Parts: sequence; structure tokens; C-alpha cells
Amino acid sequence: MAKVEVQLPQTQYTVLIEPGLLNQIGDLIAKQWSGRKVALITDSNVGPLYQTQVSDQLTAAGFTVCDYVVPAGEASKSWPVIADLAAKMAADHFTRSDGVIALGGGVVGDLAGFTASIYMRGISFIQIPTSLLAQVDSSVGGKTAIDLGDAKNIIGTFYQPDAVYIDPNTLDTMTDRYVAEGYGEIVKTAALDSADFWHLIEQINSVADIRAHATELSRRSVSYKARIVMADEKETGQRQLLNFGHTMGHAIELLAHGGLAHGEAVSVGMVHIMRVFEQLQLTKPGITAAIEERLKAVGLPTESALLGTPEFYEKIKNDKKNKNGTLNLVYVEDYGTPHIYGIPTDEVKAFFKE
Ligand SMILES: NC(=O)c1ccc[n+]([C@@H]2O[C@H](COP(=O)([O-])OP(=O)(O)OC[C@H]3O[C@@H](n4cnc5c(N)ncnc54)[C@H](O)[C@@H]3O)[C@@H](O)[C@H]2O)c1
Repeated sequence: MAKVEVQLPQTQYTVLIEPGLLNQIGDLIAKQWSGRKVALITDSNVGPLYQTQVSDQLTAAGFTVCDYVVPAGEASKSWPVIADLAAKMAADHFTRSDGVIALGGGVVGDLAGFTASIYMRGISFIQIPTSLLAQVDSSVGGKTAIDLGDAKNIIGTFYQPDAVYIDPNTLDTMTDRYVAEGYGEIVKTAALDSADFWHLIEQINSVADIRAHATELSRRSVSYKARIVMADEKETGQRQLLNFGHTMGHAIELLAHGGLAHGEAVSVGMVHIMRVFEQLQLTKPGITAAIEERLKAVGLPTESALLGTPEFYEKIKNDKKNKNGTLNLVYVEDYGTPHIYGIPTDEVKAFFKE
């Protein structure tokens, strides 16, 4: 079983990755937690596929399971859904000695993690990510969040899980579009990480290839993210590197009003920011084209008519990650050599037009 350790000042946890792991999830969790009540939180798509399998094993392993299902989709990352979950947990007499398990994609992970972090000032939490994006990115690192309307992830906490259990076989029930979307984050991570990880990316020419290499892609992505989070848990420095492609990506994702999925927008954002830095001759020749080619190989978009519009610059100027009037852009000089480049927010338009 592939294992990645996350060591932080206040806590440490293990990420286990293995195809078929869900068949032994009860035993695995029983090794982590003593018998207690668990809130098994999932969504309306994942629930019918995997909830009974997990719930039955937990019961057999001595846990008392309360199954909670939220509607699938980003709209569930909201106060009303949190209030509803917390009310159900209170009605079911959850105490601080009990636990929350997230079974689902990034939405369920962020939502369940936030609930665990505030219920009775924090109760134990475990992640079982089932989407590729959640397996390679959102389940590790401890960021939890809900949205306020258009303002994504504006309310949240840093709250680390006790363990993360990844079964790449759950990708069998995901559509190709979602798998490709999650892969956008893997291409990002590989470019940030190393030439070695990039060699694996060079072998991925279709969504079927992503599925075939899912375990190794997850292991490498999680290892990189763990390293970054261990160095900068609260995103005051190095963790900002993970925003590669995200500043432009967030802007066009918002402007596309649902037309572009997050990973698709990040794909466009990565290529666009690399082109800007290539023009400034700060990147190795050919690297932008290579990143673009790898994204296109699995059908991800790399162009958008929304880039460069007045609304686009407005969104970037107001990005919530801007600090003290500075926009921190991430680019990759070479595989494994990323940089953060700060520009004043009021010079955004001039900078991109050069
Ligand atoms: N906390 C973090 O560090 C972090 C990082 C990146 C993204 N995120 C958040 O993650 C969310 C996006 O995650 P996502 O792409 O997983 O979205 P998601 O949770 O909405 O999952 C995508 C879709 O796939 C379905 N699904 C999940 N697993 C499935 C499976 N195995 N089989 C069939 N269907 C399945 C879901 O029901 C949903 O419809 C966003 O809210 C984003 O803000 C958080």
C-alpha cells in the first residue's frame, strides 16, 4: 500500500493509497480510531455508489454510524447546509469524542472538514476522497471551506484530518470530463515538482492513461503537496506555489458562469501565465508548449475568449489572494523550478499587455 506521511507542528497523519482499499475501510479506520459514533457525510451522487459499503464495514468494526447525504454540487458549500448538518449531529447526540468522515469529492471534503472543525470546537475528522481532484489535491493539506455566493472558499478553517484513505478504483464511476479536470491539478503539480514527475506526465496521452496510472499519479501529487504543506501549513510563503494557473483560472471560471469547470479554467490559466513569462524570457524555451501539449492530450482547453477582457482584469485585481496591493503570480522556469513574481495590483493590466 502506498503511504505518504504528513508531519506538522501540531499533528501528523498518513495518506494511504491502494486500489480496492474501500473493501477494507472498516478495519483501516478501526486501527485509527477506537469505537465511537461517526457522521459519514457524502453527497447525492457518491452516496448511492459507496455509502452502504463504507457504512456497513464501519458498523461491523464497532462504530455507530449516522449517514448524512447533502445535494451534490458546489452549492452545498453553504451556511444552510452546515447548519443542517450540525443540527442533525446535535440531534444524534454527537460529542467531542466522536468523529466525522468525508466520503466524496472536494465539495464533501471541504464541507465535512469545516463541520468537523467547528462542531463543539472541533471533533476528529477522516477523509475518504472519491474524485480525482480530491484524491490528488483537496483531501490533503487541511483547508476546509464554504462559499458566500460568488466568493468561493471565503469562510473556512485550517483543520487537518487524522487520516486520508484513497481508493483509485472509485474513479471507475467518474465521467471522463471530471477525471480530465482533476488531472489539470496533476499537470500543475508535476511542473512544480520535478523533471522526474514530468516524465510520467509525458506518458499520459488520454483519460484512459490517467485511469491506468491513477495510483502513481496520486502518490506523487500527494507527496509534493505534503512537502509544501509541511513547509508552510498556513500559506504564508511556499504554499502559494500551488496557485500556479489559479489566478487567471479563477478569473475566467467566474466569468464563464459554469461554462468552464475549475480544472479546465486552471488549464487555460497555466498556459496563459506561462506565455506571459515566456515573453519575458524567464522560462526555459519549449516548456510552455510542452505544458500546453500535455493538457490538450487529455482534452483540456488551453484558450479562452474571456482572457484579456476588461472584466478579466477586474477579477484579477480583486482576487482574494492579493496581499497588500500585490498580486503574486506563479510561473515555472523549468520543471521543478517554480517562482513567485509579485506585481502591484494597479499595474495588472499594463503587465499583461506588455
Ligand atoms: N481544500 C482544498 O485544499 C481544495 C483544493 C482544491 C479544490 N477544493 C475544492 O474542491 C471542490 C471541487 O472538488 P471536486 O472536483 O471533487 O468536486 P465535487 O466534490 O463536486 O465532485 C465532482 C462531481 O463528481 C461526483 N463524484 C465524486 N466522486 C465520485 C465518484 N467516485 N463516482 C461518481 N461521481 C463522483 C460528485 O458528486 C460531483 O458531482 C471545490 O469546491 C473546490 O473549492 C478544495
